[in-house]
Amino acid sequence: MKTQPSATARYDLFSPTFKANPFPTFAQMRQDDPIYAHRSPSGGTIWYITRFEEVTAVLKDNDHFVKDVRNTLPPDAQKPRKSSLNRLINENMLFADPPDHTRLRALVNQAFTPRRVEQLAGRVQQITDELLAVIAAADEADLIASFALPMPVRIIAELLGIPPADQAQVADWSQAIISPGSRNLNYSARKRKVRAFVDYLRQMFVLRQQEPQDDLISALVLAEEAGERLNEAELSSMVALLLVTGHETTVNLLGNGALALLNHPEQLAILRERPALWETAVEELLRFDGPVETSTTRWVRDDFVFEGHQMRRGDVVRVVLASANRDASQFDQPNVLDVTRQDNRHLAFGMGIHYCLGAPLARLEGQIGLQTLFDTFPKLCLAVPIDQLEWRSGVLFRGLKQLPVRLH
Ligand code: HEM
Repeated sequence: MKTQPSATARYDLFSPTFKANPFPTFAQMRQDDPIYAHRSPSGGTIWYITRFEEVTAVLKDNDHFVKDVRNTLPPDAQKPRKSSLNRLINENMLFADPPDHTRLRALVNQAFTPRRVEQLAGRVQQITDELLAVIAAADEADLIASFALPMPVRIIAELLGIPPADQAQVADWSQAIISPGSRNLNYSARKRKVRAFVDYLRQMFVLRQQEPQDDLISALVLAEEAGERLNEAELSSMVALLLVTGHETTVNLLGNGALALLNHPEQLAILRERPALWETAVEELLRFDGPVETSTTRWVRDDFVFEGHQMRRGDVVRVVLASANRDASQFDQPNVLDVTRQDNRHLAFGMGIHYCLGAPLARLEGQIGLQTLFDTFPKLCLAVPIDQLEWRSGVLFRGLKQLPVRLH
């Protein structure tokens, strides 16, 4: 049984070279260290889980692996979160365990069922067409800034009921909460933005309570689950979570997906011949190079032995979805992009109780967005050599900083 994490990092998991192509490193980890203990700079242990089998085992085991770090402490040592930033980021379902998770998720489940989401198809198409029309006259464009980012951001903002005039300001605040760009902000600037955002939301909740509209914020303000309403911190955190997931994920499905197809013209040719395959193609793009590289942090609740490895209470566990999605024990020829792939049970949206709430919406945005992009610009191609593309840093997301293309 392995009991000690390795003192030195055996794998480069952070450099730009790794980010440019992490898959060979993940293949090595699956083979040699599928449950790999990395010593963090602060001395704690971070377990990276890379094989499909153990990744699914962790995602399904909410008893040993928890999302709320306070649940690694005895009940009398657990304290409410104090700072408004901490509450805004963490007081939501993604960082909650049952029963809180169950209650919070039940309140929004209704808004994201495949049937509800289908009703948004027309609006997704309209926004896609508008954004592509803006760049159509140019020779070149950055697809991330002009299309992949603004499309899902506008959809989620509209769904929530953020008025168009406020959307740019809200986008700026929500990026300050989490995106890597916020690292350039000093602590007090970030705090100022968070306070402004919380104040804005508070006013919005009052307005919607007085005069409900046909939007998600009104539904959340009025919603009740088992006789309980969301408190104000939970409401703000729920809205922030939805905005942030709207900013950070589908953008990468559109960006990584467009890049993968530009890089595999024979697959694009199949889609041009058989457009009905766009649905399976999007599943394959999610598997092949999905937006979320590593799941959000899980914590070991109590000392226990997982698959022969001694884990300690409070250890961090990260399941590497991008690696599990390339595991040959689950997928035939996992490094091949095949838009006709059947029975594609990938983990790009996670699994278990935290399975992505927005999956139906993300799929819809991916299918409409990518199909329309390639139909509108049949001669679309990269404007720079592929090795000049830069990937965003950080372990959580996998996405391009820019995607410069020639349109015609
Ligand atoms: C292609 C785009 C997307 C991908 C790949 C994705 C991926 C994921 C993954 C992997 C998780 C689970 C994280 C974990 O277990 O640690 C998750 C959770 C979640 N996602 Fe997404 N997501 C996408 C789009 C969206 C969108 C558009 C929304 C909002 C409408 C959304 C809302 C959420 C929420 C609220 C959770 C937390 C669910 C819970 O804890 O019960 N996601 N997503």
